[in-house]
Amino acid sequence: MTDTLSRHCADESATSRFGAAIASALRAGGLPPLLITLHGDLGAGKTTLVRALLRALGVRGRIKSPSYALVEPYTISNDGLEFNHSIGITAYHIDLYRFSSPDEWLDAGLGDVLDGNSLCLVEWPERAPGLPRADLEIRIAAHDASRDVVVRAGSRAGMAVIDQLASAASDA
Ligand SMILES: Nc1ncnc2c1ncn2[C@@H]1O[C@H](COP(=O)(O)OP(=O)(O)O)[C@@H](O)[C@H]1O
Ligand SMILES: [Mg+2]
Repeated sequence: MTDTLSRHCADESATSRFGAAIASALRAGGLPPLLITLHGDLGAGKTTLVRALLRALGVRGRIKSPSYALVEPYTISNDGLEFNHSIGITAYHIDLYRFSSPDEWLDAGLGDVLDGNSLCLVEWPERAPGLPRADLEIRIAAHDASRDVVVRAGSRAGMAVIDQLASAASDA
């Protein structure tokens, strides 16, 4: 088991493919509730990667950046687990950029969102120092058109996702 995985993404579509690969790894693990944080400067590609991830999880329609609304919720169905109806999970795409004080995320009611039952994808987690520990931290560094993305696990559940990603990459 390893707890980090790095991927060089030569262009935007490569970053999107990596987002989709993360989605496949989540599916392969039964879509567990996870807290995933995304680190990187403005324009690094956090929203781009999350958008591709949500799209690959089956989200239809427009996937807005949550910069203004703070939280965008999505229902992700887990087709195939149950005959006749699908059970699913809620995914929350969150952007804390506009936060300035450490407790603002609690005042905003995000304690209920980050309750451990959902898939939470959080941009600018450093604006909320009291957030629970992330299962996966995704760090994106930009260089012209390319991006270096490093995924690090902060829990056993996160490590399982990284293992899955690593084995999918070695099959490819
Ligand atoms: N390799 C790449 N990966 C991701 N985005 C890229 C890449 N190259 C250029 N871009 C551009 O960088 C910007 C990333 O924006 P966005 O995803 O909103 O960043 P963030 O959410 O980190 O502020 C987009 O305009 C995108 O087209
Ligand atoms: Mg963004």
